[in-house]
Amino acid sequence: MKLCVIGTGYVGLVAGTCFAESGNDVICVDAIPAKVEALRRGDIPIYEPGLEELVKRNAGEGRLSFTTDLASAVAASEICVIAVGTPMDHSGAADLSAVMAVARAIGTAANGPKVVAIKSTVPIGTADRVRRELQETSSYPIPVVSNPEFMKEGAAIEDFMKPDRVVLGSDDAVGLAKMQEVYAPFVRTDNPILLMDNRSAEMTKYAANSLLATKISFINEVANLCEKVGADITMVRKGIGHDRRIGHHFLFPGVGYGGSCFPKDVRAVISTAQDNRLDFTLLRAVEEVNDRQKRILVGRILEHFAGDIHGRRFAVWGLAFKPRTDDMREAPAVIIIERLLAAGAQISVHDPEAMDEARRMLGDRVSYGRTNYDTLDGADALIIVTEWNEFRRPDFERMKGLLKEPVVFDGRNLYEPEQMAQAGITYYSMGRPTVRSGVK
Ligand SMILES: NC(=O)c1ccc[n+]([C@@H]2O[C@H](COP(=O)([O-])OP(=O)(O)OC[C@H]3O[C@@H](n4cnc5c(N)ncnc54)[C@H](O)[C@@H]3O)[C@@H](O)[C@H]2O)c1
Repeated sequence: MKLCVIGTGYVGLVAGTCFAESGNDVICVDAIPAKVEALRRGDIPIYEPGLEELVKRNAGEGRLSFTTDLASAVAASEICVIAVGTPMDHSGAADLSAVMAVARAIGTAANGPKVVAIKSTVPIGTADRVRRELQETSSYPIPVVSNPEFMKEGAAIEDFMKPDRVVLGSDDAVGLAKMQEVYAPFVRTDNPILLMDNRSAEMTKYAANSLLATKISFINEVANLCEKVGADITMVRKGIGHDRRIGHHFLFPGVGYGGSCFPKDVRAVISTAQDNRLDFTLLRAVEEVNDRQKRILVGRILEHFAGDIHGRRFAVWGLAFKPRTDDMREAPAVIIIERLLAAGAQISVHDPEAMDEARRMLGDRVSYGRTNYDTLDGADALIIVTEWNEFRRPDFERMKGLLKEPVVFDGRNLYEPEQMAQAGITYYSMGRPTVRSGVK
């Protein structure tokens, strides 16, 4: 099958590459010439495990190409997948300008019947708007299929190749049949392709992300209460997680959710509810809890240093909003670092993959450690923000030797409190008793 994927970001590049990997001819389109040129050279602009090898192989075998020329990509394709960004606008709603511009361009360039699939996360009713735009700009039949994407950054290839389910929303039999054909190789283990109407498909994506964000805010609130009442969130988390009605996923306390999806999607649902004169009280609370959670670690640091961190230096391990990605959009690390800088502290950072992104976002306002240990030298404390595997088993003696004062503020509960007590390190974590120990 011949496809074009418009928008070559985290979703579009992964989707396009995986479609090519299953034998389709795929043209990836992006509006940024530098991105397209880099991809043509084999330079992958994002970090996603396994992606580089797949891009190179499929491009090398002629099934995957990159262009800025949307019109010729559309003319050469039977299916056009829209995967451009839908960022939050000033009111909190999703900004659909890129999606609608692409819809218009597809309609104008169409040289025959096509199928348009919307993979971007879009508000309910967007497929209808895209359909109207296509009808205004083209006389060919162009059904619109809503095809929300559920991949996780950091495991996107695996998620795309073996999805838990594929959601296809449309009332058009031809459009649905074509999309089922494209997805058939990805559901050979009988994971379902769920067919529904456009609006239900659009709502499914928002409902999924809203529920996951709710689980995170819920467990963070429980962790905060654990601290007050002297319970241990790790025990509580396991105690509830073994109940099959609850499960273990998304029940790890931390510094709040970030990334390009949860914050904007939760906002978009609240905004959609408001537009429909419904107050989504639960999601407003989820968002409020999350905003507060991003500030908790800094409050704890200030408290430890008697309210004054001016001139102190902190090491920060982990900048990406989660491990196995270089994505720092809405990352809690940025909020934590900005607050520490505003209070007059100096910061030294390390992340296994997000250093380039960090340089773009933070510039020379922080210093950069080549390794995680480099950041510790002479620092007043270590702050852990992202749970990279690389940070799970450090050399505590070395850590203690490098830090000016042996204090760790762990926003991800990477270590056992007993282990830290033995190492003589003062250890603050989330929802567990604080370990107060050694002076150096
Ligand atoms: N990142 C994720 O994990 C994830 C998961 C599921 C769904 N989504 C959704 O998928 C969509 C894309 O997300 P992303 O993270 O890939 O975004 P992104 O910002 O990484 O990529 C979007 C790309 O679209 C390009 N673009 C914008 N306007 C364009 C135009 N008019 N023509 C051609 N290209 C254009 C941009 O240059 C950019 O490369 C969003 O709606 C997002 O909510 C993202």
